[in-house]
Amino acid sequence: MNHFKFILLLLLLFVCNLFLQSYSLNIEEEREDYKNWLSWNLQNYKKKAGLVNRSTAKLGRSYKGGGVLDDKLKKAEMNKVRIIVSQDGTGDFKTVGEAISSIPKPNSKRVILVINPGVYSDDQPTITGNDTASVTGADGKPLGTLKSATVAVDANYFVAINMKFENRAMHEIGSVRGQGVALRISGTKAAFHNCSFYGDQDTLYDHKGLHYFNNCYIQGSVDFIFGYGRSFYEKCYLKSITKKVASMTAQKGLKGSMESGFSFKDSVVTGSGQIYLGRAWGDYSRVVFSYTFMDNIVLPQGWNDWGSQKRHLTVYYGEYKCSGPGADLKGRVQWAHNLTDEEAQPFIGTHYVDADSWLLSPYSS
Ligand SMILES: *[C@@H]1O[C@H](CO)[C@@H](O)[C@H](O)[C@H]1NC(C)=O
Ligand SMILES: *[C@@H]1O[C@H](CO)[C@@H](O)[C@H](O)[C@H]1NC(C)=O
Ligand SMILES: *[C@@H]1O[C@H](CO)[C@@H](O)[C@H](O)[C@H]1NC(C)=O
Ligand SMILES: *[C@@H]1O[C@H](CO)[C@@H](O)[C@H](O)[C@H]1NC(C)=O
Repeated sequence: MNHFKFILLLLLLFVCNLFLQSYSLNIEEEREDYKNWLSWNLQNYKKKAGLVNRSTAKLGRSYKGGGVLDDKLKKAEMNKVRIIVSQDGTGDFKTVGEAISSIPKPNSKRVILVINPGVYSDDQPTITGNDTASVTGADGKPLGTLKSATVAVDANYFVAINMKFENRAMHEIGSVRGQGVALRISGTKAAFHNCSFYGDQDTLYDHKGLHYFNNCYIQGSVDFIFGYGRSFYEKCYLKSITKKVASMTAQKGLKGSMESGFSFKDSVVTGSGQIYLGRAWGDYSRVVFSYTFMDNIVLPQGWNDWGSQKRHLTVYYGEYKCSGPGADLKGRVQWAHNLTDEEAQPFIGTHYVDADSWLLSPYSS
Protein backbone atom coordinates (compact mmCIF):
# COMPACT_ATOMS: atom_id res chain seq x y z
CA MET A 1 0.00 0.00 0.00
CA ASN A 2 1.30 3.42 -0.72
CA HIS A 3 -1.10 5.85 0.87
CA PHE A 4 1.64 7.45 2.87
CA LYS A 5 2.97 10.19 0.71
CA PHE A 6 1.86 12.93 3.00
CA ILE A 7 2.67 14.08 6.47
CA LEU A 8 0.22 12.72 8.98
CA LEU A 9 -0.67 14.34 12.20
CA LEU A 10 -2.25 12.57 15.08
CA LEU A 11 -2.97 14.53 18.19
CA LEU A 12 -3.66 12.77 21.39
CA LEU A 13 -4.53 13.96 24.79
CA PHE A 14 -5.38 11.62 27.58
CA VAL A 15 -7.39 13.11 30.38
CA CYS A 16 -8.58 10.07 32.18
CA ASN A 17 -11.98 9.82 33.78
CA LEU A 18 -12.97 13.38 33.00
CA PHE A 19 -15.36 12.27 30.36
CA LEU A 20 -18.14 10.92 32.50
CA GLN A 21 -18.26 13.97 34.70
CA SER A 22 -18.68 16.34 31.85
CA TYR A 23 -21.09 14.16 29.96
CA SER A 24 -23.71 13.20 32.50
CA LEU A 25 -25.85 16.28 32.34
CA ASN A 26 -28.34 17.28 34.90
CA ILE A 27 -31.27 17.35 32.60
CA GLU A 28 -34.40 17.46 34.72
CA GLU A 29 -36.49 14.34 34.82
CA GLU A 30 -39.54 16.05 33.36
CA ARG A 31 -37.51 16.66 30.20
CA GLU A 32 -38.19 13.11 29.18
CA ASP A 33 -40.79 14.13 26.67
CA TYR A 34 -38.71 13.75 23.58
CA LYS A 35 -41.11 15.63 21.45
CA ASN A 36 -39.52 18.65 23.12
CA TRP A 37 -36.12 17.84 21.73
CA LEU A 38 -36.39 20.34 18.96
CA SER A 39 -37.43 23.21 21.17
CA TRP A 40 -34.65 22.26 23.54
CA ASN A 41 -32.17 22.58 20.71
CA LEU A 42 -33.62 25.87 19.60
CA GLN A 43 -33.45 27.35 23.07
CA ASN A 44 -29.93 26.12 23.44
CA TYR A 45 -29.00 27.62 20.14
CA LYS A 46 -30.42 31.02 21.03
CA LYS A 47 -28.66 30.97 24.36
CA LYS A 48 -25.38 30.12 22.70
CA ALA A 49 -25.96 32.73 20.02
CA GLY A 50 -26.07 35.31 22.79
CA LEU A 51 -22.82 34.03 24.26
CA VAL A 52 -21.13 33.89 20.93
CA ASN A 53 -22.03 37.49 20.20
CA ARG A 54 -19.71 38.39 23.03
CA SER A 55 -16.88 36.14 21.91
CA THR A 56 -17.01 37.53 18.37
CA ALA A 57 -17.38 34.17 16.57
CA LYS A 58 -20.16 33.76 14.06
CA LEU A 59 -22.83 31.12 14.25
CA GLY A 60 -24.44 29.36 11.34
CA ARG A 61 -21.20 29.32 9.46
CA SER A 62 -18.27 27.01 9.33
CA TYR A 63 -15.77 27.30 12.11
CA LYS A 64 -13.28 30.09 11.58
CA GLY A 65 -11.59 30.05 14.96
CA GLY A 66 -11.60 32.82 17.48
CA GLY A 67 -13.72 31.22 20.18
CA VAL A 68 -12.79 31.07 23.82
CA LEU A 69 -11.21 27.70 24.57
CA ASP A 70 -12.21 25.75 27.63
CA ASP A 71 -9.70 25.78 30.49
CA LYS A 72 -8.38 22.23 30.20
CA LEU A 73 -7.74 22.64 26.54
CA LYS A 74 -6.07 26.03 26.99
CA LYS A 75 -3.63 24.47 29.49
CA ALA A 76 -3.03 21.47 27.28
CA GLU A 77 -2.21 23.70 24.34
CA MET A 78 0.31 25.75 26.32
CA ASN A 79 2.35 22.66 27.10
CA LYS A 80 2.47 20.94 23.75
CA VAL A 81 4.76 17.99 23.18
CA ARG A 82 5.78 17.00 19.71
CA ILE A 83 6.81 13.45 18.87
CA ILE A 84 8.13 12.51 15.46
CA VAL A 85 7.55 9.03 14.16
CA SER A 86 9.85 8.12 11.36
CA GLN A 87 10.64 4.69 10.11
CA ASP A 88 14.13 5.59 9.03
CA GLY A 89 15.21 6.34 12.60
CA THR A 90 15.52 10.12 12.16
CA GLY A 91 12.56 10.77 14.49
CA ASP A 92 11.87 9.98 18.13
CA PHE A 93 10.28 6.62 17.44
CA LYS A 94 10.03 4.23 14.56
CA THR A 95 6.43 3.10 15.12
CA VAL A 96 3.16 4.75 16.12
CA GLY A 97 2.71 2.09 18.80
CA GLU A 98 5.99 2.98 20.53
CA ALA A 99 5.16 6.67 20.36
CA ILE A 100 1.75 6.19 21.98
CA SER A 101 3.25 3.95 24.69
CA SER A 102 5.67 6.72 25.59
CA ILE A 103 2.83 9.04 26.65
CA PRO A 104 2.31 8.90 30.42
CA LYS A 105 -1.20 8.32 31.78
CA PRO A 106 -2.93 10.37 32.87
CA ASN A 107 -1.67 13.09 30.61
CA SER A 108 -2.95 16.63 30.40
CA LYS A 109 -0.68 17.98 27.67
CA ARG A 110 -1.36 18.10 23.99
CA VAL A 111 0.76 15.41 22.38
CA ILE A 112 1.27 15.74 18.66
CA LEU A 113 2.42 12.70 16.73
CA VAL A 114 3.88 13.72 13.43
CA ILE A 115 4.00 10.60 11.31
CA ASN A 116 6.54 11.11 8.57
CA PRO A 117 6.08 9.79 5.05
CA GLY A 118 7.20 6.24 4.49
CA VAL A 119 5.85 2.74 4.36
CA TYR A 120 5.43 1.30 7.80
CA SER A 121 5.38 -2.46 7.81
CA ASP A 122 3.91 -3.17 11.23
CA ASP A 123 2.44 0.12 12.06
CA GLN A 124 1.22 2.24 9.20
CA PRO A 125 -0.56 5.55 9.03
CA THR A 126 -3.33 3.36 7.67
CA ILE A 127 -4.35 1.62 10.83
CA THR A 128 -5.98 -1.64 9.91
CA GLY A 129 -7.54 -4.66 11.59
CA ASN A 130 -10.15 -7.33 11.07
CA ASP A 131 -11.72 -8.16 14.44
CA THR A 132 -15.46 -8.67 14.68
CA ALA A 133 -17.84 -8.90 17.62
CA SER A 134 -17.67 -12.71 17.43
CA VAL A 135 -13.87 -13.03 17.60
CA THR A 136 -12.68 -14.49 20.90
CA GLY A 137 -10.81 -12.02 23.07
CA ALA A 138 -7.94 -12.60 25.51
CA ASP A 139 -10.48 -13.42 28.24
CA GLY A 140 -11.97 -16.26 26.19
CA LYS A 141 -15.24 -14.38 25.54
CA PRO A 142 -16.44 -12.85 22.28
CA LEU A 143 -15.09 -9.34 21.86
CA GLY A 144 -18.50 -7.75 21.25
CA THR A 145 -18.93 -4.68 19.08
CA LEU A 146 -17.19 -2.29 21.48
CA LYS A 147 -13.91 -4.21 21.53
CA SER A 148 -13.87 -5.08 17.84
CA ALA A 149 -12.54 -1.60 17.04
CA THR A 150 -9.24 -1.36 15.18
CA VAL A 151 -8.65 1.98 16.90
CA ALA A 152 -10.45 2.92 20.10
CA VAL A 153 -10.18 6.45 21.46
CA ASP A 154 -11.09 7.09 25.07
CA ALA A 155 -9.14 10.35 25.39
CA ASN A 156 -10.84 13.73 25.30
CA TYR A 157 -9.67 16.45 22.88
CA PHE A 158 -8.47 13.89 20.33
CA VAL A 159 -7.66 15.19 16.86
CA ALA A 160 -6.78 13.14 13.78
CA ILE A 161 -5.78 14.61 10.44
CA ASN A 162 -5.23 12.66 7.22
CA MET A 163 -5.52 9.27 8.88
CA LYS A 164 -7.09 6.14 7.47
CA PHE A 165 -8.84 3.76 9.87
CA GLU A 166 -9.85 0.38 8.59
CA ASN A 167 -11.52 -2.86 9.64
CA ARG A 168 -11.24 -5.46 6.90
CA ALA A 169 -13.75 -7.95 8.33
CA MET A 170 -16.55 -8.53 5.84
CA HIS A 171 -20.18 -8.75 6.85
CA GLU A 172 -22.11 -11.78 5.64
CA ILE A 173 -25.83 -11.22 5.15
CA GLY A 174 -27.71 -12.97 7.94
CA SER A 175 -24.64 -13.49 10.10
CA VAL A 176 -24.68 -12.62 13.76
CA ARG A 177 -21.95 -10.70 15.53
CA GLY A 178 -20.40 -9.64 12.26
CA GLN A 179 -19.87 -6.12 13.54
CA GLY A 180 -16.35 -4.93 12.84
CA VAL A 181 -15.58 -1.41 14.03
CA ALA A 182 -12.80 0.57 12.34
CA LEU A 183 -12.82 3.42 14.85
CA ARG A 184 -14.59 3.93 18.13
CA ILE A 185 -14.58 7.43 19.57
CA SER A 186 -15.71 7.57 23.18
CA GLY A 187 -13.89 10.71 24.34
CA THR A 188 -15.58 14.08 24.07
CA LYS A 189 -14.47 17.15 22.06
CA ALA A 190 -12.83 15.17 19.28
CA ALA A 191 -12.17 16.28 15.72
CA PHE A 192 -11.38 14.34 12.56
CA HIS A 193 -10.15 16.23 9.50
CA ASN A 194 -9.65 14.56 6.14
CA CYS A 195 -9.86 11.08 7.62
CA SER A 196 -11.27 7.94 6.08
CA PHE A 197 -13.05 5.07 7.76
CA TYR A 198 -13.29 1.78 5.91
CA GLY A 199 -15.37 -1.11 7.13
CA ASP A 200 -18.47 -3.11 6.49
CA GLN A 201 -20.97 -3.54 9.33
CA ASP A 202 -20.64 -0.89 12.09
CA THR A 203 -17.63 0.97 10.65
CA LEU A 204 -17.70 4.10 12.77
CA TYR A 205 -18.74 3.79 16.39
CA ASP A 206 -19.64 7.37 17.26
CA HIS A 207 -19.97 6.24 20.81
CA LYS A 208 -20.43 9.28 23.04
CA GLY A 209 -19.36 12.88 23.49
CA LEU A 210 -19.07 15.91 21.21
CA HIS A 211 -17.45 15.16 17.86
CA TYR A 212 -16.66 16.98 14.65
CA PHE A 213 -16.00 15.19 11.35
CA ASN A 214 -14.78 17.37 8.54
CA ASN A 215 -14.20 16.25 4.95
CA CYS A 216 -14.20 12.58 5.92
CA TYR A 217 -14.93 9.47 3.89
CA ILE A 218 -17.02 6.85 5.66
CA GLN A 219 -17.76 3.49 4.08
CA GLY A 220 -19.81 0.55 5.27
CA SER A 221 -22.90 -1.57 4.81
CA VAL A 222 -25.06 -1.97 7.90
CA ASP A 223 -25.47 0.75 10.58
CA PHE A 224 -22.10 2.06 9.57
CA ILE A 225 -22.33 5.24 11.60
CA PHE A 226 -23.77 4.40 14.98
CA GLY A 227 -23.68 5.26 18.66
CA TYR A 228 -24.97 8.05 20.87
CA GLY A 229 -22.51 10.83 20.28
CA ARG A 230 -23.58 14.40 19.62
CA SER A 231 -21.79 14.88 16.35
CA PHE A 232 -21.55 17.27 13.45
CA TYR A 233 -20.52 15.77 10.12
CA GLU A 234 -19.58 18.39 7.57
CA LYS A 235 -18.65 17.77 3.92
CA CYS A 236 -18.48 14.03 4.45
CA TYR A 237 -18.78 11.36 1.77
CA LEU A 238 -20.96 8.50 3.00
CA LYS A 239 -20.50 5.43 0.86
CA SER A 240 -22.82 2.45 1.18
CA ILE A 241 -21.45 -0.93 0.12
CA THR A 242 -24.56 -2.80 1.15
CA LYS A 243 -25.68 -5.53 -1.22
CA LYS A 244 -29.39 -5.54 -0.36
CA VAL A 245 -31.22 -3.32 2.11
CA ALA A 246 -29.66 -1.76 5.17
CA SER A 247 -29.67 1.35 7.30
CA MET A 248 -26.81 3.77 7.07
CA THR A 249 -27.01 5.22 10.58
CA ALA A 250 -28.18 3.78 13.86
CA GLN A 251 -28.21 6.65 16.29
CA LYS A 252 -29.07 5.83 19.85
CA GLY A 253 -30.33 8.73 21.90
CA LEU A 254 -29.67 8.46 25.59
CA LYS A 255 -32.65 8.34 27.87
CA GLY A 256 -32.45 11.24 30.27
CA SER A 257 -30.28 13.39 28.01
CA MET A 258 -31.26 15.72 25.20
CA GLU A 259 -27.68 15.96 24.08
CA SER A 260 -27.04 13.18 21.63
CA GLY A 261 -27.85 13.19 17.92
CA PHE A 262 -26.06 13.19 14.57
CA SER A 263 -26.19 16.17 12.22
CA PHE A 264 -24.91 15.79 8.65
CA LYS A 265 -24.40 18.88 6.54
CA ASP A 266 -23.11 19.45 2.99
CA SER A 267 -22.49 15.76 2.62
CA VAL A 268 -23.00 13.10 -0.04
CA VAL A 269 -24.89 9.84 0.39
CA THR A 270 -24.11 7.35 -2.33
CA GLY A 271 -22.96 3.80 -3.12
CA SER A 272 -24.77 0.49 -3.59
CA GLY A 273 -27.87 -1.28 -2.32
CA GLN A 274 -30.98 0.35 -0.90
CA ILE A 275 -30.62 2.22 2.32
CA TYR A 276 -32.55 3.93 5.04
CA LEU A 277 -30.91 7.12 6.21
CA GLY A 278 -31.34 5.85 9.72
CA ARG A 279 -33.02 3.31 11.90
CA ALA A 280 -34.04 3.78 15.48
CA TRP A 281 -31.64 2.12 17.86
CA GLY A 282 -33.77 2.51 20.95
CA ASP A 283 -36.56 5.02 21.48
CA TYR A 284 -34.68 8.31 21.25
CA SER A 285 -32.75 8.10 18.01
CA ARG A 286 -32.07 11.52 16.44
CA VAL A 287 -30.55 12.37 13.09
CA VAL A 288 -30.72 15.44 10.86
CA PHE A 289 -29.49 15.79 7.28
CA SER A 290 -29.11 19.24 5.73
CA TYR A 291 -27.84 20.44 2.34
CA THR A 292 -26.87 16.87 1.55
CA PHE A 293 -26.90 15.20 -1.84
CA MET A 294 -28.73 11.88 -1.70
CA ASP A 295 -28.33 9.38 -4.49
CA ASN A 296 -31.13 7.09 -5.65
CA ILE A 297 -30.05 4.38 -3.22
CA VAL A 298 -32.04 6.10 -0.45
CA LEU A 299 -35.40 4.34 0.02
CA PRO A 300 -38.40 6.69 -0.42
CA GLN A 301 -39.53 6.01 3.18
CA GLY A 302 -36.16 7.34 4.34
CA TRP A 303 -36.27 6.14 7.92
CA ASN A 304 -36.94 2.92 9.78
CA ASP A 305 -38.40 2.35 13.27
CA TRP A 306 -36.57 -0.98 13.75
CA GLY A 307 -39.86 -2.75 14.38
CA SER A 308 -41.28 -0.52 17.10
CA GLN A 309 -44.16 1.79 16.23
CA LYS A 310 -44.13 3.51 19.59
CA ARG A 311 -40.83 5.07 18.54
CA HIS A 312 -42.67 7.22 16.01
CA LEU A 313 -43.46 9.57 18.88
CA THR A 314 -40.01 9.70 20.40
CA VAL A 315 -37.41 9.50 17.64
CA TYR A 316 -36.44 12.63 15.78
CA TYR A 317 -35.45 12.43 12.14
CA GLY A 318 -35.21 15.64 10.14
CA GLU A 319 -34.18 16.79 6.69
CA TYR A 320 -33.46 20.28 5.45
CA LYS A 321 -32.74 21.45 1.92
CA CYS A 322 -31.26 18.19 0.70
CA SER A 323 -30.93 17.45 -3.00
CA GLY A 324 -30.65 14.56 -5.42
CA PRO A 325 -32.96 11.69 -6.38
CA GLY A 326 -32.89 10.21 -2.87
CA ALA A 327 -33.97 13.45 -1.21
CA ASP A 328 -37.57 13.51 -2.46
CA LEU A 329 -39.70 13.88 0.66
CA LYS A 330 -42.93 12.63 -0.91
CA GLY A 331 -42.53 8.99 0.11
CA ARG A 332 -41.08 9.64 3.56
CA VAL A 333 -42.56 8.07 6.69
CA GLN A 334 -45.06 10.45 8.27
CA TRP A 335 -43.08 10.71 11.46
CA ALA A 336 -40.02 12.22 9.74
CA HIS A 337 -39.66 16.00 9.71
CA ASN A 338 -39.05 18.52 6.97
CA LEU A 339 -37.34 21.24 8.96
CA THR A 340 -38.16 24.92 8.70
CA ASP A 341 -35.36 27.49 8.54
CA GLU A 342 -35.72 28.18 12.22
CA GLU A 343 -35.83 24.52 13.21
CA ALA A 344 -32.71 23.78 11.16
CA GLN A 345 -30.59 26.53 12.74
CA PRO A 346 -29.28 24.54 15.73
CA PHE A 347 -28.05 21.75 13.46
CA ILE A 348 -26.27 23.50 10.61
CA GLY A 349 -23.07 24.76 12.15
CA THR A 350 -20.30 23.65 14.46
CA HIS A 351 -22.25 25.33 17.27
CA TYR A 352 -24.24 22.09 17.27
CA VAL A 353 -21.29 20.51 19.10
CA ASP A 354 -20.35 23.62 21.11
CA ALA A 355 -17.23 23.79 18.99
CA ASP A 356 -16.38 27.36 19.92
CA SER A 357 -14.79 26.28 23.19
CA TRP A 358 -12.72 23.40 21.88
CA LEU A 359 -12.39 23.10 18.12
CA LEU A 360 -8.93 24.15 16.97
CA SER A 361 -7.92 25.00 13.47
CA PRO A 362 -6.18 21.93 12.03
CA TYR A 363 -3.30 24.20 11.11
CA SER A 364 -2.64 25.46 14.64
CA SER A 365 -0.35 22.52 15.38
C1 LIG B 1 -26.13 39.48 18.33
O1 LIG B 1 -25.64 40.70 17.79
C2 LIG B 1 -26.44 41.21 16.72
C3 LIG B 1 -25.74 42.42 16.12
O2 LIG B 1 -24.71 42.91 16.93
C4 LIG B 1 -27.83 41.53 17.26
O3 LIG B 1 -28.64 42.03 16.20
C5 LIG B 1 -28.46 40.27 17.83
O4 LIG B 1 -29.71 40.56 18.41
C6 LIG B 1 -27.56 39.67 18.88
N1 LIG B 1 -28.11 38.37 19.29
C7 LIG B 1 -28.31 38.05 20.55
C8 LIG B 1 -28.92 36.72 20.77
O5 LIG B 1 -28.00 38.78 21.48
C1 LIG C 1 -7.59 -11.57 10.41
O1 LIG C 1 -6.21 -11.34 10.49
C2 LIG C 1 -5.49 -12.42 11.04
C3 LIG C 1 -4.03 -11.98 11.21
O2 LIG C 1 -3.59 -11.28 10.09
C4 LIG C 1 -5.64 -13.65 10.17
O3 LIG C 1 -4.94 -14.73 10.74
C5 LIG C 1 -7.11 -13.99 10.03
O4 LIG C 1 -7.29 -15.06 9.15
C6 LIG C 1 -7.90 -12.78 9.55
N1 LIG C 1 -9.30 -13.09 9.60
C7 LIG C 1 -10.14 -12.71 8.65
C8 LIG C 1 -11.57 -13.08 8.86
O5 LIG C 1 -9.77 -12.12 7.67
C1 LIG D 1 -7.90 18.37 3.63
O1 LIG D 1 -7.96 18.08 2.26
C2 LIG D 1 -8.21 19.21 1.44
C3 LIG D 1 -8.36 18.72 0.03
O2 LIG D 1 -9.46 17.85 -0.04
C4 LIG D 1 -7.08 20.19 1.59
O3 LIG D 1 -7.35 21.36 0.85
C5 LIG D 1 -6.93 20.57 3.06
O4 LIG D 1 -5.78 21.37 3.22
C6 LIG D 1 -6.77 19.34 3.92
N1 LIG D 1 -6.81 19.71 5.33
C7 LIG D 1 -5.86 19.36 6.20
C8 LIG D 1 -6.08 19.80 7.60
O5 LIG D 1 -4.90 18.69 5.91
C1 LIG E 1 -40.09 21.22 3.03
O1 LIG E 1 -39.80 22.47 3.58
C2 LIG E 1 -39.37 23.44 2.64
C3 LIG E 1 -39.00 24.68 3.42
O2 LIG E 1 -37.88 24.43 4.24
C4 LIG E 1 -40.47 23.68 1.63
O3 LIG E 1 -40.02 24.60 0.66
C5 LIG E 1 -40.85 22.35 0.96
O4 LIG E 1 -41.94 22.55 0.10
C6 LIG E 1 -41.19 21.32 2.00
N1 LIG E 1 -41.40 20.05 1.33
C7 LIG E 1 -42.41 19.24 1.63
C8 LIG E 1 -42.51 17.96 0.84
O5 LIG E 1 -43.22 19.49 2.49
